[in-house]
Amino acid sequence: MIVTGLIIISGISIIAFCILIYTFTSMSNSRLIADIRALQESSKVLDPDNESRKVSGNEVINYANDFLGKIDERTTFIQSGYDDTALSDTDFSKGHDVSDVLQLLKDHMEAPGINTAHGGHLGYIPGGGLYAAALGDYIADITNKYAGVFYASPGAVRIENALIEWTGKLVGYEQGFGGNLTSGGSIANLVAITTARDAKQVKAKDFHRLVIYTTPQAHHCIDKAIIIAGLRESIVWRVAMDGNYRMDVAALEQLITEDLEEGNIPFMVIANAGSTDVGAIDPLQQISEVAKKYDMWMHVDGAYGGYFMLLDEYKQKMKGIEQADSVVLDPHKGMFLPYGTGIVLVKQLHHLQNAFRYEASYMQDTVGVAAGISPADVSPELSKHFRGMRMWLPLKLYGEQAFKDCLQEKILLTQYFCEEIQKLGFELVCQPELSVAAYRFVPKEGDANEFNKRLLEMMHADGDIFISSTNLGGMYVLRFACLSFRTHIEHVDRLLQMFKRALKEMGVTTQK
Ligand SMILES: Cc1ncc(COP(=O)(O)O)c(C=O)c1O
Repeated sequence: MIVTGLIIISGISIIAFCILIYTFTSMSNSRLIADIRALQESSKVLDPDNESRKVSGNEVINYANDFLGKIDERTTFIQSGYDDTALSDTDFSKGHDVSDVLQLLKDHMEAPGINTAHGGHLGYIPGGGLYAAALGDYIADITNKYAGVFYASPGAVRIENALIEWTGKLVGYEQGFGGNLTSGGSIANLVAITTARDAKQVKAKDFHRLVIYTTPQAHHCIDKAIIIAGLRESIVWRVAMDGNYRMDVAALEQLITEDLEEGNIPFMVIANAGSTDVGAIDPLQQISEVAKKYDMWMHVDGAYGGYFMLLDEYKQKMKGIEQADSVVLDPHKGMFLPYGTGIVLVKQLHHLQNAFRYEASYMQDTVGVAAGISPADVSPELSKHFRGMRMWLPLKLYGEQAFKDCLQEKILLTQYFCEEIQKLGFELVCQPELSVAAYRFVPKEGDANEFNKRLLEMMHADGDIFISSTNLGGMYVLRFACLSFRTHIEHVDRLLQMFKRALKEMGVTTQK
């Protein structure tokens, strides 16, 4: 009896306990669900509905149209506003109306500094900013396709690979090459130099004997890349140049011979296809022959000049580029795209794959789906912006011819500028090969460097059109860099007018 009673009591206790647990669990479960729903509701603003998208989208489109519609009414360079700290505000504690936020940008971001979207931007190497590229970015960001791995988005990867293919064929590569869309020329050069290091199987114990040959015209990102690639200890020779700032190939070969005698290892030659300072194109064919003779990696930095190969004349001038082991071109320069798009090409894809291969256990599902090269397999990046879309859409919408004509216009504008600036008494430092001209005014008395420096200060204070300067072996030189798709003859005339005004102010009388 007692035992039976105990069993019954225990049974009841267990049932009561279970009911308690169940009630508690379902209470806490429903509280959990309620909490989740509340958070979903309070963060809903992150995923606006159709109606809200229309409102904010229209506001942004109106802002863009207003910006572009009035772009030519303002000056290119505004030298004030550097002390305006409104946008350093780190208070993000509450949200704001889209119109208020756009006004904030209008008041504090748009104006100060260089208006790089303006046709009057003739400094450094102008970037682009095609409207269709912005539309491409919009699609890329909305679909947020994962363009790093073929398995994740075969379509997005095919678009990027098609652009690599098109650009590779443009430089004259035939088969077996590969490449990657990078964020710009600096990273593209880094990828190329890293690939060369691994392809030539150089060993750390020999780094101090490795020799890299380039000219003083090489962009500074090359020096950065050499250091980042771990080759800080290597020897970098600045090969002598001819009067047009192009590599002297005889001097290159002389250096190589001396290096071999001294037990150094000639490793790589880096040539320019359009240097930043003056647009110099090195003798690529001859350099390729030297590189082959001494079994060196040849790299060509065509970040600025590369896309001029769309024009037959420049395909000819850059002959030999197709012999290079790697080439860099910047679509955010020669294809007029917004900042953030470079391309690196490597003649033998397997070298690129070898330098950037990886394996990760959590990526195992993606292995084997290899109908296309995955960008992640040929670059340091894994997750990446689907940057191909901003190049593909303008090319698809407008076709190649519009780009060719625009590049040709830039070449002719440079010729026009050179003729006109000489009429004002300026000297060309060298004959421009592309769309960059280097020039200076040599006054009858006084220091020419100081004079041109003062001239540039006056041009900047005016700001209607923006130009920049450079230093060529101690010579202060003004630059005209024509690559914006919005630069037309009116802008060049405006620049010439500015020079006239400035010279007059400096007491120089011009003939014209
Ligand atoms: C010849 C050359 N190489 C490399 C670069 C660096 O490219 P990015 O600014 O896209 O990194 C530039 C930039 O102007 C350039 O003109």
